[in-house]
Amino acid sequence: MADAAGILGFDPFDPAFRSDPYPRYPAPGPLLRTPVGLWVTSSYALCERALRDPAFGHGGADGESWRSGPARRRSFLTMDPPDHTRLRRLVSKAFTPRLVERLRPRVTALVDDLLAAAHGSTDLIAALAYPLPVVVISELLGVPPEDHERFKAWSDALARGLDPDFLLPADELARRDEARAEFAAYFRELAARRRAEPRDDLLSALVAVSDGGDALSEEELLGTCILLLVAGHETTVNLIGNGALALLRNPDQLARFRARPDGVAAAVEELLRYDPPVQLTLRTALTDTDLGGTPLRRGSLVLLLTGRANRDPAAFADPDRLDLARYADGTHAARHLSFGQGIHYCLGAPLARLEGQVALAKLFERDVRLSPEPLTYRDNLVLRGLSSLPVTLDD
Ligand code: HEM
Repeated sequence: MADAAGILGFDPFDPAFRSDPYPRYPAPGPLLRTPVGLWVTSSYALCERALRDPAFGHGGADGESWRSGPARRRSFLTMDPPDHTRLRRLVSKAFTPRLVERLRPRVTALVDDLLAAAHGSTDLIAALAYPLPVVVISELLGVPPEDHERFKAWSDALARGLDPDFLLPADELARRDEARAEFAAYFRELAARRRAEPRDDLLSALVAVSDGGDALSEEELLGTCILLLVAGHETTVNLIGNGALALLRNPDQLARFRARPDGVAAAVEELLRYDPPVQLTLRTALTDTDLGGTPLRRGSLVLLLTGRANRDPAAFADPDRLDLARYADGTHAARHLSFGQGIHYCLGAPLARLEGQVALAKLFERDVRLSPEPLTYRDNLVLRGLSSLPVTLDD
């Protein structure tokens, strides 16, 4: 593996960092420069500015700075305008908040089924957090139930799909690219079937979507399906896992959560701020510019430590405290950066919120106790999530 600490200025794979990264990231302040010339910031104001300012983007239609090889199949996550604008608009026409809200009864039924099967010693990741998003996204796209297992296997191989290539060991990179190729072949076939015989699913809608004569090409359609799987699955797992753990470790906040069912949406926002599934993102200066007074040459790479910026005391009072009242009525806490900001703001945020709210509300209707075993986190730079979350679950 590449020497992450040398590149980034901190070591994300150190076990101490994995268990509590926040005091170990560089503290908010002016831009820092790492030995290899990468710029880094955890300041809320600078992260927000770089996410919103058109002087920053990905530089190259497919994020050349971040990806190589077949993994570079076109996905709008790493595109700049006008390509990004065009694709995001087309996909947004098919993937609407209304479509997501229609899923509420199905998400509730899935959570009920998963929890009904769990009693006594349980790993919450395997029992609830992991299966829920993959089944939801599979059903939403219109993947037949008999293919869900294959889908899960590809999803596993794509687990580090959001990490930059330069941090992945060669074998993992090869597995990921192989899974992408298989996944694309599978979707090419399924898309052809939906084109011939449309159904009431997102894939049929993506195949049919058009805007003033414009439509998704086949490559764009496949890139979008892979993006929805990768961006939508591994993240939501960690919202449920990290969120459940934060509540279990803060019994006063858990008591508040249970006492106010109408406060679940605000609680999930605070859980997203407090221990976000996506810890950071990267931007390239598209022109000579500056960030917080530091001049940057065109092409400079800036690592935005958004997870740490969510705890910047300049933006949030008492930022290291989990405070479910923070986003409740009448409070004006800054928006967290956990879904990004600006033109790349998470397109799946309504779905992620729905799944997180239903899963955590239903889970904590039960008696849940954290088991004493030490917790381990998955090796991942961009995403932060537990390998397992052992609990005892009673009715
Ligand atoms: C808790 C769960 C989730 C988190 C924390 C999350 C986080 C993010 C973040 C931080 C970004 C912006 C990245 C950047 O600007 O560099 C993003 C973009 C995106 N997310 Fe999510 N996401 C979640 C769930 C989902 C779901 C469920 C879907 C879809 C099924 C999804 C689809 C997308 C897409 C398509 C983009 C690209 C948007 C664009 O480039 O315009 N995400 N997400």
